[in-house]
Amino acid sequence: MSSNQYPTVNIAQENEARLAPSNESPRREFLIGLSATAVALGAIPAQSGSAGAQAANRSTNQPESMHMTFTLPDLPYAHDALQPYMSKETLEYHHDKHHLAYVTNGNNLLKGTEWEGKSLEDVVKGSFGKNAGLFNNAGQHYNHLHFWNWMKPNGGGAIPGKVEKAIIDGIGSVDKMKEGFIQAGVTQFGSGWCWLAVKDGKVIVTKTANGESPLVQGATPILGCDVWEHSYYIDYRNRRPDYLKAFIENLVNWAYVEEMYEAAIK
Ligand SMILES: [Fe+2]
Repeated sequence: MSSNQYPTVNIAQENEARLAPSNESPRREFLIGLSATAVALGAIPAQSGSAGAQAANRSTNQPESMHMTFTLPDLPYAHDALQPYMSKETLEYHHDKHHLAYVTNGNNLLKGTEWEGKSLEDVVKGSFGKNAGLFNNAGQHYNHLHFWNWMKPNGGGAIPGKVEKAIIDGIGSVDKMKEGFIQAGVTQFGSGWCWLAVKDGKVIVTKTANGESPLVQGATPILGCDVWEHSYYIDYRNRRPDYLKAFIENLVNWAYVEEMYEAAIK
């Protein structure tokens, strides 16, 4: 694939793609006032009039009457802040276009359903297996909300002690965790995600297809890496293993993982 194929991506094309359950291709004020734990718990209120919806409306300058349910948060860093491991161009497409498409389609597909007004996490869990279009978009909105926070400039490095202990208890060692996480991402055939999750109190490595997450496997995600081609192809082309290695070694925001771990074990 040549790089000049990417500028052809537009929202209209993606909107169509988002309605097809298995096809590839599917702002910061919002997070101010919303703790990572609230995001981690999926406690972003869905109904208009709630604190979350008001924050969402502020960030997109949408009037309350729009009843916006999902909203695109700003990245928690500049588009070029993750270079050289993830380029400005990748984040411009991935966040500004792909994530936006999930938000737009998710809002359209949520209207009139039984999940309108529910928390994002409840929408994801409730629509799984029942409403594929809504699930795909809500699931990807949930995954990407966290994905931006699972990365930071100068990421990687030391893992907070409590999380490190839980990783060793559940998986055996930090090295085994990294190896398993990368392997899960490499072996996820087609689009999907690889994860660290808490299941039955233990940290596990897992992987999911498309917009699924550990939430629909009876587990709670604490770290996830997007292995859809839109996440790495501009920077790594077909070298998915190199992308995954760079993610785990140089991009992970372990403090956010710790927050999600703490929330998961409560
Ligand atoms: Fe993505």
